Amino acid sequence: MKFRLVYTLFAFMALALLLVNNSGGPAEVQGLDRTGSPLSISACQACHSAGAFSPSPMLEVLDDTLAVDAYEGGKSYKVRITVNASGTPAGYGFQAVALTGATNLQAGDFKNPGADVQITPLNGREYPEHSKRSNTNTFEVDWEAPAAGTGDVRFYLAVVAANGQNGSNGDGSSFLSTPVTLSETVSSTARANELFETFAIYPNPATSDLYLHIKSHEQGVYQLRLSNLQGQAVLNSSLSVMAGEQTRVLDVSQLPAGVYSLQASDGKGVVSRKVVKR
Ligand code: HEC
Repeated sequence: MKFRLVYTLFAFMALALLLVNNSGGPAEVQGLDRTGSPLSISACQACHSAGAFSPSPMLEVLDDTLAVDAYEGGKSYKVRITVNASGTPAGYGFQAVALTGATNLQAGDFKNPGADVQITPLNGREYPEHSKRSNTNTFEVDWEAPAAGTGDVRFYLAVVAANGQNGSNGDGSSFLSTPVTLSETVSSTARANELFETFAIYPNPATSDLYLHIKSHEQGVYQLRLSNLQGQAVLNSSLSVMAGEQTRVLDVSQLPAGVYSLQASDGKGVVSRKVVKR
């Protein structure tokens, strides 16, 4: 008799918890990827299938205020998710994930979730998702890009525009049919700096010859250093430069494939470029 009461009480509590929790994102509530990525069996429309509000998902990766389609290793960006919908939904929800490589590994690191956003860990990945039904149709979270050499990163996103009935009926959902893909910036062409007017390298990635296109205000002798990701120098030499434009060649054919940093310095200023050896 007593047992039965306790059991019933527990069942009620569990149910209450479940109902309350369901207003959070699917990684938290269901322990599932519902982004429409290769890791999800089905996206939000598995339940939110009414097709109301015709929501369309949008995901932007912002460097300051500028949307980018390439990232720099280790740099911080802001990811902004917007749910554009027809009619007047009462609220919004989403789930996103950033993946890389053939085995869909976590790419980078999500941080500082904005209003109504939580970051839920699941199977070694991070899922930014709504923490509760949100009144606004934009969500923001910071993203620290993965280390240089990681390659393309794919952002998957699924969204719901909800009618506020605390259920999955009568809502609309959709997901990105193709992920937002960011490539990695490796070649840094001609950006003016203190040392040179131009310091461009090509081809990048390089296999045998790496060309340095230099435009200098004045003649001088510089230290040239190529180092690997561990910071160890694999090449040290001096570089004498005339005033004006010139091209130099570096033989990188003997280097193991990987990402390197090429630095030219005059002891005071330094200019560096990321080099990928294939
Ligand atoms: C397995 C079914 C299921 C899936 C899949 C699912 N949800 Fe839900 N969702 C529910 C249920 C049930 C509720 C109502 C429970 C509640 O509000 O507490 C709900 C509620 C919501 C609400 C509040 C709705 C309202 O009108 O109050 C939002 C927003 C929401 N889900 C977003 C999402 C998003 C975004 C996804 C996909 C990334 C998703 N859901 C996937 C079952 C699901």
